Amino acid sequence: MKALSLEIRDITVGYDRADVLSGVSLTANAGEITCLLGANGSGKSTLARAILGLTPPRSGTIRLDGRDIAGLAVHKIVGLGIGAIPEGRRVFPKLTVTENLRTGAYLVRDAALVATRMTEVFRVFPRLEERAGQLAGTLSGGEQAMLSIGRGLMGSPGLLIIDEPSLGLSPKFVKENFQVIRRINEAGVSVLLVEQNVHQTLEVAHRGYVLSGGRVVAEGTAEELKRHPELVAAYFGNHGG
Ligand SMILES: Nc1ncnc2c1ncn2[C@@H]1O[C@H](COP(=O)(O)OP(=O)(O)O)[C@@H](O)[C@H]1O
Ligand SMILES: [Mg+2]
Repeated sequence: MKALSLEIRDITVGYDRADVLSGVSLTANAGEITCLLGANGSGKSTLARAILGLTPPRSGTIRLDGRDIAGLAVHKIVGLGIGAIPEGRRVFPKLTVTENLRTGAYLVRDAALVATRMTEVFRVFPRLEERAGQLAGTLSGGEQAMLSIGRGLMGSPGLLIIDEPSLGLSPKFVKENFQVIRRINEAGVSVLLVEQNVHQTLEVAHRGYVLSGGRVVAEGTAEELKRHPELVAAYFGNHGG
């Protein structure tokens, strides 16, 4: 699958009553890592859910390589080439590593293709191959993180949305995770990286957006964002960066 672009224009998204996102626009260029930064509760996961069709927008457009996907069913959106790695990883603890990976290719009917993709995932994560027959619930947190990313790659996406991959991981695994994300991108996959870990995210991202209270409060290249007053005040200023 070739790298896909994403263009979100002026979407409003909410659950029951109040809107969580208001007038949000975001562009993820094909072949780039675009990051979405913001504090807890700012609406990052809601935006990820809106793109996937899990919480469809009330208004606005979401274009994947030019095609409007807002309102399509989740499986249709996934079938167009978006891979999702949910917050909290959510591997199936009672399934083996191999079985978990297979669930990431549930739309693929060709068994040989599934096997080829699994080999590719094992090339990225040799540790997963060593643990292939092990139940996912018995893996370490870092290994579960690898498994969730591997599962996201099994669909051979053109755009991968990763929701807070570094949450709850030790610094060593966080670093490894970001290196893997960079390698996946370099292999030709667009990435929308949702994170709170500002420093390391801006090291791997090309461009980014900052959400606050459901609105975009800053956007630009990673270099521009590093100097942005909103970010400096919210993160760098208080954390000695
Ligand atoms: N399923 C839901 N139903 C109702 N409100 C929700 C739901 N999920 C999230 N919210 C609310 O939406 C806001 C944004 O949440 P979320 O998108 O999870 O933010 P983030 O991922 O940036 O932490 C929060 O106020 C949260 O309480
Ligand atoms: Mg979230």
